[in-house]
Amino acid sequence: MSLLVHKKALVTGSSRGIGRAAAIAFAKSGADVAIHYRRQREQAESAAEEIRAMGREALVIQAELEDPAEVNRLFDEIGETWGGLDIFMANAAASAFKPVMELKPHHMERTYRLLVDNFVLSVQRAVPLMEGRGGRIITLSGHGTHFTLPRYGNIASAKAALESLTRYLAAELGSKHITVNAIAPGVIGTESEQFYMGDNLEAFDAACRSATPLGRVGEPEDVADVAVFLASGLARFVTGQTLVVDGGLTLTSGPFQQIFGI
Ligand SMILES: NC(=O)c1ccc[n+]([C@@H]2O[C@H](COP(=O)([O-])OP(=O)(O)OC[C@H]3O[C@@H](n4cnc5c(N)ncnc54)[C@H](OP(=O)(O)O)[C@@H]3O)[C@@H](O)[C@H]2O)c1
Repeated sequence: MSLLVHKKALVTGSSRGIGRAAAIAFAKSGADVAIHYRRQREQAESAAEEIRAMGREALVIQAELEDPAEVNRLFDEIGETWGGLDIFMANAAASAFKPVMELKPHHMERTYRLLVDNFVLSVQRAVPLMEGRGGRIITLSGHGTHFTLPRYGNIASAKAALESLTRYLAAELGSKHITVNAIAPGVIGTESEQFYMGDNLEAFDAACRSATPLGRVGEPEDVADVAVFLASGLARFVTGQTLVVDGGLTLTSGPFQQIFGI
């Protein structure tokens, strides 16, 4: 596939999980990719190696995205190296998984700084790099934004803000031919799913398989391929939308499903 030939893409949090799969899918579609990571240098380097083996360029940039100075450094480096950017996928996320009633101010501050405040700063830095080339901004929401999940209120409320910002930015940036869309994954098998579910992982995955019309837990590549679509010319008239990628999980209703099997 050559949907993204000559494109320059930055994916935050692409050392592992969905971000890594998206970075590799962008490269398979012809893009050069900046792999960003926070702690996992080895994994980031191995993603970059995979991309270079396809004949594409890969940058590897470390940055703690809770820190605005580091956000600025990340975009400075992209600007100095490439002089422009076509695709910005804001994928990095982290949260304290706790009931809302147990959240401390610093839990919310950290998650909101990463997912909301510094996302806005990132877009403010990315857009000048997209000037005159159109552009694609892709955010990651999640089904916890519209449904309640245990211990998920901190990140889910930040993602709700992100979905709203996705719509506002789409309206503001349309005249620059920049589209802004969100992907809302359902349950995707990554390290963060393992961390969130802990000892319940196996039972949870089995329950998800039976409640999902497509009959399985999602893989990072399921989300990555949708990111390629949104990043490509195929999605040229799609903006401000949140695309649910969950195998149909959120279509089913627990009690009905248990009794009638649908
Ligand atoms: N997995 C799911 O079921 C699911 C469901 C709904 C939504 N999502 C969303 O999809 C996205 C990817 O999820 P995932 O499961 O692939 O995540 P993941 O495996 O937890 O990976 C998170 C990535 O974000 C980076 N990161 C975390 N905190 C950071 C910080 N403060 N500064 C810079 N980078 C930071 C990590 O870098 P290091 O590894 O280098 O530390 C890592 O690359 C997230 O936005 C998540 O909320 C996932």
